Amino acid sequence: MKYIWHGHSFVEIHTQSGHTVLIDPLISNNPLCTCDLDTIHADYILVTHGHEDHLGDTIEIATRTNALVIAMVELADFLAQYDIQTFGMNCGGRQTFPFGNVKFVYAQHSSSYHDMYMGLAVGIHVEDSVGSIYHMGDTALFSDLKLVPYADVCFIPIGDCFTMGIEDAVIATTLIQSQHFVPIHYNTFPQIAQDPQQFKDACKKTVIIPDAGVLYPVPTRIKTI
Ligand code: NI
Ligand code: MN
Repeated sequence: MKYIWHGHSFVEIHTQSGHTVLIDPLISNNPLCTCDLDTIHADYILVTHGHEDHLGDTIEIATRTNALVIAMVELADFLAQYDIQTFGMNCGGRQTFPFGNVKFVYAQHSSSYHDMYMGLAVGIHVEDSVGSIYHMGDTALFSDLKLVPYADVCFIPIGDCFTMGIEDAVIATTLIQSQHFVPIHYNTFPQIAQDPQQFKDACKKTVIIPDAGVLYPVPTRIKTI
């Protein structure tokens, strides 16, 4: 399993099966993103909630690539009117796809699109045959984060204002069952200006600050057999 962070909450996953899975693909109005909306490849798109900085360019990408869009049932039903392939899930549910397992977990956040209700906002846990990631979406700090299954890498919002800031995100890392944390959802617009190095310095677990657009391996657990 490999990942590319494209700025904001946009993460691209390359699974062991050879599939490309985009999470919250924001290309337009994403200053750190170097992707081309007309050529980006996607087999699947996972969307954490309906806010425009997360739904991003999902409709346009899915229309061109025919990627299956996996989202909360209310959001998936809404997106189906755009004549794209959708698959609805709800919080706590897990489903197996050709690229691996997807589980929707709680996030403490709202979810709407142009003031229409889009169900719950979720975090998304993905595992393939070799590794796992947990994309938190947008969320506040809450104690049930400790119940989310282990993931090799956790993508964690640090921007403040709309999600956890650095102080709460550091506390979250003590609850979450991951060893590696990648900060997301910062420096895209003025309200979420943050220094990720400050998060790294305050955190007792390993923090990776990836360069946007660069492919990194998901570090997997060393198996003792
Ligand atoms: Ni949001
Ligand atoms: Mn957001």
